[in-house]
Amino acid sequence: MNQDLKKKNSAIEAFNLINPKLNKDSVIGIGTGSTTNFFIEELNSSNLHIKGVVCSSKASASLIRNTYDVLSLNEVHSLDFYVDGADEYNDRKELIKGGGGALTREKILAYSSESFICIVDETKHTDLLGREFPLAIEVIEIARSAVSRELMKMGGKPIFRNGFTSDNGNQIVDVHNFPIEIPYELEAEINNIPGVVENGIFAKRKADVIICATDNSINILD
Ligand code: 5RP
Repeated sequence: MNQDLKKKNSAIEAFNLINPKLNKDSVIGIGTGSTTNFFIEELNSSNLHIKGVVCSSKASASLIRNTYDVLSLNEVHSLDFYVDGADEYNDRKELIKGGGGALTREKILAYSSESFICIVDETKHTDLLGREFPLAIEVIEIARSAVSRELMKMGGKPIFRNGFTSDNGNQIVDVHNFPIEIPYELEAEINNIPGVVENGIFAKRKADVIICATDNSINILD
């Protein structure tokens, strides 16, 4: 089975999981990326009567069918569900995100959600976050080099994501060769470097449920 089909199956499972729990006051947070796009397809092809959705990127918002209200986070009290993909996950449901550069808004929405459902396929599983997939860090432009020097001192190899600007108008540094032994601690440590807006470790607010599609099954970690 190709990877896209697995991503789609995971997204369908997430939709089926939350659908019975939705009502007219429900608000769904929507992540960013190709797996989330399959979830948006499910949403668009159904006729849910909900209050609306809050999106973690302009790209995702642009895909939502106009029968749904796309709300700002400031307009709502909280998100009933936040559905998003990940670049890597471990058995503790900690994640690395930010391959699509939307990590800051994604983390804000994850924090604001009652339930964070992460949709992935089996290729995203790892025993050690950051060993293979680079860790994305959103930085204020003038701090890019200074932050990169600090990341090198911490043992990583930062590479500027050239030509990319986040929806917040900031730049991204991807840190390679950066195995993350204690995600919770490193998440806080990196965010303490002046000029860092946010980093892609989701450990303090990790996923509540991981839905992982394999070739012949859907595994749910909750
Ligand atoms: C975007 C993200 C995505 O969730 C992550 O990159 C996974 O993407 P995909 O579903 O395309 O594999 O964090 O910032």
